[in-house]
Amino acid sequence: MAEFSTYYSPQILLLTLSASLVAIALSFSSSVPGLRWITKKFSKTKNAANKAVRALPGSWYLSQEMYELERRAIFSKKWLLTTHQIRLPNPGDWLRYQVAGFDFVIAKDRTGTINAFHNVCRHRAFPVVTKDEGNNSILACKYHNWSYSLNGKLTKAPSYQDIEGFDKSQNGLFPIHVHIDTNGFIWVNLEAAEKPTTAWVDDYQNIDKQDRFKAYNFDGYQFDHTWQMEGEYNWKLLGDNYNECYHCPTTHPDIPTVADLSNYGVVTENAYVQHLGRPTPEQIARGFNVAATFYFPNASMNVS
Ligand code: FES
Ligand SMILES: [Fe+2]
Repeated sequence: MAEFSTYYSPQILLLTLSASLVAIALSFSSSVPGLRWITKKFSKTKNAANKAVRALPGSWYLSQEMYELERRAIFSKKWLLTTHQIRLPNPGDWLRYQVAGFDFVIAKDRTGTINAFHNVCRHRAFPVVTKDEGNNSILACKYHNWSYSLNGKLTKAPSYQDIEGFDKSQNGLFPIHVHIDTNGFIWVNLEAAEKPTTAWVDDYQNIDKQDRFKAYNFDGYQFDHTWQMEGEYNWKLLGDNYNECYHCPTTHPDIPTVADLSNYGVVTENAYVQHLGRPTPEQIARGFNVAATFYFPNASMNVS
């Protein structure tokens, strides 16, 4: 599986999943329930597609104040799809992410639990990890050597044991909420409250159980690679671009080989957009199908 690609600007995660290492036997035909569902949903979308809508004001893509507001109101409050648990197969595995200027770590502790915390040492705020990924039994800050276990608890603070009133248990890394969906994808929510204002299910309902996913065995994938791209554009542009295929015939002349654009549409519900591209009978015969979904605010995923 090619894993997830990370695009930054200021920072958005764009996820793409494709079966590059593991052959998945997909035998699609018109009798597959998922395809019937796609056809039904698409005809509903088609009727709603003719209403004119205005784009967001241009200043929203340029204003630093707007971006700071989005960091507080969206990136600190919404669930962010980051990766899949196959990227953390062993206790001690960790991954570092930076999204909208927030630096955090997702780690598997010795009990096998996947945790997330801010990558900010509780001593003088040095980053606890400085690489993108690794495997460690503890995370030791390279400034004054405070150490944390992979559940974020402070295990060692040299000389601080002699300081009266210093409570190790109150100085662990700041935790981040984690949700692992039915298919093993890892979501985080950076809201500082004990319980996020928005529950994962409020925004995403049963999207992880969507019919199209029945065609895939998410446990059967293997991690292949990750890649990054940087550019000078606002994060919303990636969402805008991913969610319109108006540009597809011009910009992606090869798309007709993988999708039937005359049967292409989207269903926008809750905090996600499902992209429904009904393959042609020839493509189905070749076992080709893609389930593409955009998850507001930061991620899109193509499963093939
Ligand atoms: S900043 Fe991490 S140990 Fe001092
Ligand atoms: Fe495109």
